[in-house]
Amino acid sequence: MTHKLLILPGDGIGPEVVDAAIQVLNSLERVTGTTYEKEFALLGGAAFEDSGNPLPEETLKLARSADAAIFGAVGGPQWDTLDRELRPESGLLRLRSELDLFCNLRPATLFPALSDASSLKSDVVSGLDVMIIRELTGGIYFGRPRGIDTRNDGVKVGYNTLVYDENEIKRIAIAAFDIAKKRGFKLCSVDKANVLEVSELWREVVSEVGSEHPEVALDHMYVDNAAMQLVRQPKQFDVIVTGNMFGDILSDLGAMLTGSIGMLPSASLNSKSFGLYEPVHGSAPDIAGQNVANPLAMILSVEMMLRYSLGEKTAADLVKVAVDKVLSAGYRTVDISQQQSLCLGTREMTEQVCVNIENLI
Ligand code: IPM
Ligand code: MG
Repeated sequence: MTHKLLILPGDGIGPEVVDAAIQVLNSLERVTGTTYEKEFALLGGAAFEDSGNPLPEETLKLARSADAAIFGAVGGPQWDTLDRELRPESGLLRLRSELDLFCNLRPATLFPALSDASSLKSDVVSGLDVMIIRELTGGIYFGRPRGIDTRNDGVKVGYNTLVYDENEIKRIAIAAFDIAKKRGFKLCSVDKANVLEVSELWREVVSEVGSEHPEVALDHMYVDNAAMQLVRQPKQFDVIVTGNMFGDILSDLGAMLTGSIGMLPSASLNSKSFGLYEPVHGSAPDIAGQNVANPLAMILSVEMMLRYSLGEKTAADLVKVAVDKVLSAGYRTVDISQQQSLCLGTREMTEQVCVNIENLI
């Protein structure tokens, strides 16, 4: 069996954590006999430096012919003053949009060995397992009109548009109910329907889809309350579904509940189960190239890829168990450690995971 993967290292710590993903895939090849064919392409600041375009046509073409894509991170201060459409982040947003990756899964799962790494009390977070589903190709990040103009009275005005049509809401709601049925049959839809018309429609459509899934307990929550509840009592949630911007914010919050944003993977899927798999953390330019980044979010993104796009459940389980073993054995990177002096670097942590994968078979 051969799977065709596109590898997008990106910027900052992206290349280092992507290298961890490749090591893990190599280990899996050795023990399972499945081949992971890897093509490399540029995205973000690295692509801009090469061709002046943060999402080159070539990258898009390769992505369209791959079974799945692995992506590190984009962005860095040196590109922050470019015109918006040339910035690394625009390359990523366009890639999501061009491939119609509307369904973004961001699980916030606490590994038992890390219950002390969270900034919240361990009894509040122990056993935490929340799936945040973020709509990824619509809402205010893509809505038009957008811009910064100067009004007739000479005052500058910045504006964006938060817009969803009912079809966009319906398809993410259907995906969310499907996932809720594979988990705890509980779905919380997060909006701001007390203020925004777009949220009123969101609520209406999610409820309509909900009436076809009576076995799932559906709840609605305003986003400000959801942020508070996630910190107060996160274990009340099973699956959360929300729009693009609210999901961006709440998923960072969810990540921190688990101890470190360096632990959180994500999957961005289209309706054909092609997926872009990336850690939730960003490019962290301040620690790039120092071999200190936590590779586990990337490695767990590989696990999600094996599960959601490639149908390789056994390999996915191997990765999950290996990560669990490494953490239970006490290995830590600096972001999840109390004792800084005993920390492993990116490469050493990855090696531990690989050794465990190879020893599990
Ligand atoms: C994320 C990031 C991106 C987003 C940025 C880098 C464009 O914050 O994936 O959460 O806002 O979606
Ligand atoms: Mg974000």
